[in-house]
Amino acid sequence: MWITGSLLVVHILSIVLWIGGVAFVTTITLPMLASWPAAHRFAVFSEMERRFGAQARILVVAAGLSGGALLVRLRLTGLLGRPQGAWLDGMIGFWTLFALLLFVAEPLFLHRKMSELAQRDPNRVHALLLRGHRLLLALAVIVIISGVWGVTT
Ligand code: HEM
Repeated sequence: MWITGSLLVVHILSIVLWIGGVAFVTTITLPMLASWPAAHRFAVFSEMERRFGAQARILVVAAGLSGGALLVRLRLTGLLGRPQGAWLDGMIGFWTLFALLLFVAEPLFLHRKMSELAQRDPNRVHALLLRGHRLLLALAVIVIISGVWGVTT
């Protein structure tokens, strides 16, 4: 019992710190940078993302491992792919999307492409980053609401 409780603590703490960081970047950092000189924006954003990215990698791994362990301990695997388990599919789908962005797309090509585009069109990069972060935050909110509802109903 205490193992399940501890796993849930790790899971929720990772989600709070991870999605809280995404919310901060989306609602504070990116809007604030809009009023900065275009030439500096991407450099400042990259430095912040580099620091947050390091934290996010650990938090995403912790959320995934604790979520997977909870799935097995609570014997919820049978719910996967079924309408009653849509909230679980949502968590796994969002986690996979974020992990691919963080561990595959960003190191392989996303950061390089964005840096190149920022040299030519910094306003476009800023708009793209804002739109992408808003979308991720909106998806996270939906996943959290449906997760809490799914568990309690
Ligand atoms: C590999 C990915 C994930 C797996 C396997 C997973 C699995 C689980 C499981 C099994 C539970 C416990 C359900 C219960 O207490 O009966 C849970 C709880 C929860 N998960 Fe996830 N999860 C994952 C990712 C995420 C993500 C990405 C989010 C949010 C963005 C999230 C948000 C939550 C929340 C808010 C709860 C608490 C629900 C409650 O107890 O009211 N999870 N997760």
